[in-house]
Amino acid sequence: MAELRQLHDLLAEGEAALVSLASRSPLAHWLPLSVDQEDGDYHTYIGTALYEQHWRRASRWRTETESRDAVIVALAADLLANEAHALTHTASRDQYARTRAAFQLLKQSATLAPTMPPFVADAVSGAPTVADGGDGMALATISMNLAEDVLAWTSDAPRQLVDITMLPVTQLHDEQMFIRCIQIFEGLYVQVARSLECAIAALEEDDAGEAEAVLRDAAARVEAMPILFRVLTTMPRDAFAVIRDNTHGRSAIQSRSYRQVELLSAPREAGFDPQQAAQRDVADPTLQEVYLKRVERRMTAAQADGLAKVMRRLDLAWRMSKRTHWGVTLKVIGSVPGTGGTSGADYLKHSASISLFPALEADTAMGAASQ
Ligand code: HEM
Repeated sequence: MAELRQLHDLLAEGEAALVSLASRSPLAHWLPLSVDQEDGDYHTYIGTALYEQHWRRASRWRTETESRDAVIVALAADLLANEAHALTHTASRDQYARTRAAFQLLKQSATLAPTMPPFVADAVSGAPTVADGGDGMALATISMNLAEDVLAWTSDAPRQLVDITMLPVTQLHDEQMFIRCIQIFEGLYVQVARSLECAIAALEEDDAGEAEAVLRDAAARVEAMPILFRVLTTMPRDAFAVIRDNTHGRSAIQSRSYRQVELLSAPREAGFDPQQAAQRDVADPTLQEVYLKRVERRMTAAQADGLAKVMRRLDLAWRMSKRTHWGVTLKVIGSVPGTGGTSGADYLKHSASISLFPALEADTAMGAASQ
């Protein structure tokens, strides 16, 4: 640890040979994860910088979306392998339920990661179905086979990324599930944020069709999030209490990509962003603003309706996901404050009531009132 810290400090000071070495390897971005016990945050906990570096590099030969989808599937396969392995040691009902949820997650991962590589798509779609409350050893075996098949078809770079971004702060196996869930959610948040950016750019070019298509993709991914929550909700209260004790000051409220989704969708009230987590240039228009401007001019009624429909669909799915997160939080920690300094479940309940596109919501309410 002392050597890692020394190397980390040398890099932070900009020691030339090391910086040049690190720019060619993931080392510089990995070191902060390994020495962040005292001063880490949410992003060093889950390795965000390494994932961002991977998207940037991978985009040279495949699109960022394909690269993110490949990583999401590799993360889900690793999660399943870990849970199936635990099931071979602990054949409890709870571990069966967790492994089954992880199995379903990987089996249905095409809904979360629709551009996954074709061989991987074949492996997951060909997997058998598993019953609720069946034989533990049988589930462990088919789960390990599926996870191995998927990882065998996954290229080296995403596999390595998944391997090096598991640095838990406790010895609890539950924390490994927690970290993998967060990393998959993060991949999805980034994807939704990029879709919003693409939709804004497309509308600015008067391409309503393209904007609608990318928003449809984003809505479908958010609608698929319940399969991931089904894994997370197996978190035992006592295990999470230990994880919380060791992760003070790290909260997903610091997530930049999550905040970006909300900042890109519509102007937010002052004080909306308690952590100032993701700053956008205030001059940048949000999707709601660009949409409203184009509705006034340039767009046909059919285009405006199509876009409004998909924006409402995205908003509904996003808020549904926030409500599910609130429900999981109540189950796992009750109503104690969060590690990010908020009131906890009450904060999340309120946050789930805020629309991504308030102007469209006002339209719906006015439409309903005039009928
Ligand atoms: C059982 C596990 C979890 C519990 C008990 C939990 C609890 C909480 C609490 C209490 C907050 C309020 C902020 C704070 O003070 O910390 C919060 C915020 C948040 N959590 Fe979780 N969380 C869990 C898992 C996750 C996972 C796996 C993700 C995925 C990335 C996640 C994403 C978020 C986000 C994005 C926020 C900010 C919400 C907003 O500002 O609207 N949480 N969580």
